[in-house]
Amino acid sequence: MIKFPKDFLWGSAASAPQTEGAAAMGGKSPSTWDKWFELNPELFNQNQGPEITSDVYHQYREDVKRMKEIGMNSYRTSIAWTRLLPDGKTLNEEAVRFYRDYFTAMLEEGVEPIINLFHFDMPWWLMEQGGWEIRASVEHFAYYAKVAFEQFGDLVKRWTTFNEPLVHIECGYLLGCHYPAKNDWRLMVQVGYHTLMAHVRAVEEFRKCQIEHGEIGIILNVSPAYARSQSPEDLLAKEVSDNRSVYSFLDPCVLGTVPEKLVELLKQFDLLPFVEETDEKLIAENTVDFIGLNYYQPTRVKAPDHPQTPPQGFRDLVAGYDWPEKKMNPYRGWEIYPEALYDVALMMKEKYHNIPWYVSENGMGVADEERFLTEEGEIQDDYRIEFMKEHLEQLHKGIEAGSNCFGYHTWTFVDCWSWLNGYRNRYGFYRVDIEDNCKRTMKLSGKWYKQLSEQNGF
Ligand code: BG6
Repeated sequence: MIKFPKDFLWGSAASAPQTEGAAAMGGKSPSTWDKWFELNPELFNQNQGPEITSDVYHQYREDVKRMKEIGMNSYRTSIAWTRLLPDGKTLNEEAVRFYRDYFTAMLEEGVEPIINLFHFDMPWWLMEQGGWEIRASVEHFAYYAKVAFEQFGDLVKRWTTFNEPLVHIECGYLLGCHYPAKNDWRLMVQVGYHTLMAHVRAVEEFRKCQIEHGEIGIILNVSPAYARSQSPEDLLAKEVSDNRSVYSFLDPCVLGTVPEKLVELLKQFDLLPFVEETDEKLIAENTVDFIGLNYYQPTRVKAPDHPQTPPQGFRDLVAGYDWPEKKMNPYRGWEIYPEALYDVALMMKEKYHNIPWYVSENGMGVADEERFLTEEGEIQDDYRIEFMKEHLEQLHKGIEAGSNCFGYHTWTFVDCWSWLNGYRNRYGFYRVDIEDNCKRTMKLSGKWYKQLSEQNGF
């Protein structure tokens, strides 16, 4: 039997834009996702937009009971900036009532709300001015954070600023799958830097608010790099990849410094962002209390086959590597490699002074899950249980080795809407029938999770 530490957090994560729905109700203003869908619905799988998603705005009270039903003692979701402050300045009382009621309901059922501020949902009014491209975004975000802490700090003790900042940065400015879908390295770095400063300023506001027993952190996607070989070129590819995708936010958020190697690379490729004089001090003084790490897949890297010399950019130092032994989740196209969780646990212990951290997302998205429906209407998602077990074994090994991990959250609780993918891949413990008022039905994995949390292990 594998046992986890006392008071271990068992739960799931989700976000406002992926679950709430009511996108144009209750005084909410549009986010980039609402607008992008209005402008280009054809980009979204089966034209599934963010208006209704999983209807949590109307079904949250029953949902909270469901959380308890499957043994969750904690749940992370986000506040929609566009709901709380529709124009960035004016407090929406309807939003305050909704979130207060939602978080209170969780507390009444013994489910700790862990609340995040930004989950890819940039307000449209701000995007029209340039979004994270402009320095003013930092202060807009700091104000929003302050209002959220003041309104809900009595109910919420664990806060996080951003979910996976690298995703809106890279997807929005390099890969084309988040608005504004630009392809511009220099802008991407500037957007990344403003995001970091927005985080830092939010932490500063948090400290000023002095929330009793309050703690603040950030949720980062971690995809550690594994090199094809031990050759110096392949190892350099790993170093470059980790600096870009792992240390770029972990270092400043935990250690209060930007990695030297990353600065060196940005300088080499003439990509250094504009900074303000007091930024370095602000970063150093506003480190976090805890970290959430979303782990889905590793990064496999090698040295590029035909790099330019001297290198002109990151692409001349690191390339993707197709590891022949990989095991895949074919629906999402992501490699399944639980062993990385052990490595991540040790990295947190050794490189990040064993700061408290938790697995804030881990999960398996599968398409067409109706294939696994029994006559009684239950989805037999044994693959999901297997996936969780394998990851938990590795995590447990890391904890045994001394890593300070305090919880394991899955993605996700009820099936939810996923950006351009809509409802294609399902991750939940509860199936959501989008044809039938988002009716929820527990899957086999929900039963398993209940047992897991009751026994604090398996
Ligand atoms: C994480 C995000 O990257 O992965 C979620 O925080 C996302 O917002 C989840 O939904 C699963 O990825 P996807 O793209 O399959 O929805």
